[in-house]
Amino acid sequence: MQLQDILYSQGFGTRRVCAGLIQQGLVQVYQESGAMPVLVHDSAAELSPAGLRIRVQGVDWPYHRLAYLMLHKPGATECSHRPSTYPSIYSLLPSALRLRPQKSAVQGVQAVGRLDQDTTGLLLLTDDGQFIHRMSSPRHHIPKVYEVGVRHPLDAGQLSRLLAGVVLDDDPAPVRAAACEALNEHQLRLTLTQGKYHQVKRMLAAVGNRVETLHRSQIGGLSLPDDLPPGAWRWLRPAELGLLQP
Ligand code: URA
Repeated sequence: MQLQDILYSQGFGTRRVCAGLIQQGLVQVYQESGAMPVLVHDSAAELSPAGLRIRVQGVDWPYHRLAYLMLHKPGATECSHRPSTYPSIYSLLPSALRLRPQKSAVQGVQAVGRLDQDTTGLLLLTDDGQFIHRMSSPRHHIPKVYEVGVRHPLDAGQLSRLLAGVVLDDDPAPVRAAACEALNEHQLRLTLTQGKYHQVKRMLAAVGNRVETLHRSQIGGLSLPDDLPPGAWRWLRPAELGLLQP
């Protein structure tokens, strides 16, 4: 693959801009195996992209044909490209991730489902349209774990109703928590396998309580790592992608 096409595929701008970056001596390449970076001036240089790392204007970038990443969503951010009140989560990502050209029905990385403005925690993003579809499909029942802070003291009745199923206002079929445990009087851990709009908040309201804080700690077998602070993102490792299989 030509180096200018590799850069283009990673979101570094149009082919012309990418060729310019290379010709101006702003791009080095090296293999993951630990070789030293080499400056390449020829934008048409043929390179094998697998395992390639590029350094563009001093910033290291591992080649990924498709991008899969996790973000620790902070509070007061919106999962929208056109936010109304708070900054967009997309502003927390480098522009190359937003500018990746379309490969699989999706242009730039997109959030896999949305979290509310005030919800914090684990959010996946990708430019793999099939992955988004698989992860969002109700058929696959991928469990999502939420740590929920509530206004009123929890009681056994509320927990058993969440497990037995509550009816929300848009559907007569009850929705139930796959698991539910009180961590203390005002804190519970809830596992859901559906992804309805404001589902946690509406379920807690249906049992007479109110969500005060909401944090997603896990999707499938993947937990939010302790060393990923709010606002930070990182690439998913291949083994972590495996933890998300239905
Ligand atoms: N349920 C909610 O109510 N809000 C979220 O952000 C996620 C799940």
